[in-house]
Amino acid sequence: MAVAGTGQSNENWSGRAAFILAAVGSAVGLGNLVRFPYVAGDSGGGAFIFVYLATILFIGVPVLIAEFMIGRRGGGSAIAAVSRLARTEGRTRAWVIFPILGILASFLIVSYYSVLAGWILHFIQVFAVDIGGRFVAEGPVALTAPAFEGQSDEEIGGILPKLLSQPGRMIVLHALFMAATVFILSRGVKSGIEAAANVMMPIFFVLLLGLTTFSLVTGEAMQALTFLFTPDFSQLTGSTLLRAVGQAFFSLSLGAAMMLTYGTYLSRETDIKSSSQIVATADTAVALIAGLALFPIVFASPVLSADVMGDNDPGLGLLFVTVPRAFHLMPFGSLFGLAFFVMALFAALTSAIALLETSVSWADGDYDVPPAQKARRRVIGAICLGGLAFLIGIGHALSQVPQTVAATFFNDWSPLDAIPLFQGMNFLDAIDALATTVLQPFVGMITALFAGWAISTSAAKEELRFDNDSTFALWQTLVRWVAPIAVGLVLLYGAIIVPLLD
Ligand code: TRP
Repeated sequence: MAVAGTGQSNENWSGRAAFILAAVGSAVGLGNLVRFPYVAGDSGGGAFIFVYLATILFIGVPVLIAEFMIGRRGGGSAIAAVSRLARTEGRTRAWVIFPILGILASFLIVSYYSVLAGWILHFIQVFAVDIGGRFVAEGPVALTAPAFEGQSDEEIGGILPKLLSQPGRMIVLHALFMAATVFILSRGVKSGIEAAANVMMPIFFVLLLGLTTFSLVTGEAMQALTFLFTPDFSQLTGSTLLRAVGQAFFSLSLGAAMMLTYGTYLSRETDIKSSSQIVATADTAVALIAGLALFPIVFASPVLSADVMGDNDPGLGLLFVTVPRAFHLMPFGSLFGLAFFVMALFAALTSAIALLETSVSWADGDYDVPPAQKARRRVIGAICLGGLAFLIGIGHALSQVPQTVAATFFNDWSPLDAIPLFQGMNFLDAIDALATTVLQPFVGMITALFAGWAISTSAAKEELRFDNDSTFALWQTLVRWVAPIAVGLVLLYGAIIVPLLD
């Protein structure tokens, strides 16, 4: 019994390749470029990578398959899909709580993701001005120069702090990025999301490969390979495993009703299993390659490598402070520095599109809304929801302004301070923790349970078309038991135990 079928006015992906590119675009983001390389190097190198790969294989891929399956079978939007499936399977409507919380998670994430993307825009401008200025003065030979030639290390490390003390500028850049996201989403699935991924993802991959080659050739390749891949099995503890699950969920964009939403645009013909494998493989490959693009140039400088090794949570500092300082020390640094931030921008934009699409897809209505009306609702929905995320993002931007510069209210506010998990966190950090440490694992766990238990075996079989029953049984066991238990532990550990112990 096909529930959502052809003949509905819901727009579909134009084909398998377009769908895969869009899903890869959503998965590949700042999580791959910044978070993975650092976590891997810091949590046991090759030993962590081994655990991470197993996590992707046994938890990430099955849950990804589950999200695409629920989305396609239910159709409409994440909420409509789950509520329709719950009804046809004779289950309680209460299941809709998980797509609702997933949409909330995606929406909250995009409200600060856009502010961070605004910082990327700032660095693009700074690098472009640097190259442009010298190009005018010296001609093409300017391209061979290190970035910011003639400036001191402190000045370059100070670019981000200086930006943070200019709230107006941060907000304008955030507005520009959000406007681009809204514009693309308002054009719909084919000429918006798909077109954007079709243009940006190929450029992203070319830039990534070019930068990695440059980095391996000119930087300290051996030291980077050692840092990333030397297995240190003594670091393989329970918490490493949980870190791997958390990273896998963030990187594959799971547990946020997002892949579920992309699944609602899937045609009957597209094979979900193989598509999921490709998406997961591409996302993991980018994470591994990003480490090879990043660390050789950072380790080329003893000062920078000491900084990175000594910092417990370099996160964004790695991208916005260490990386510009590294390009300052490399020949061709200005050129490759610019390329690096353009690449990061494309990764961030295709992820932000996906994050906001999750709620826009709800706003444009179910699949039986007539196409013209749906298109109009989509434009209005994208503008209103993007506008709301923009307003919340102003709070995130203001929370980053140093108190010595100005009192912005947000830089002196710890919302949810009473809860141990959020203690002492500013607005941005608290929203990030709420979305990625609480909502995502919770929603991911329920998503797996819904796919494993609420959807009948016959429906799942019909949707997934596994070649044989034992592979199907393996998938079902993973979403029924393994994923909910593993992700539930991540939730328990990350949201309750660690904050209480701290
Ligand atoms: N996966 C993206 C990254 O690696 C970010 C992202 C996009 C995301 N959509 C998501 C994270 C949904 C969590 C949930 O940066």
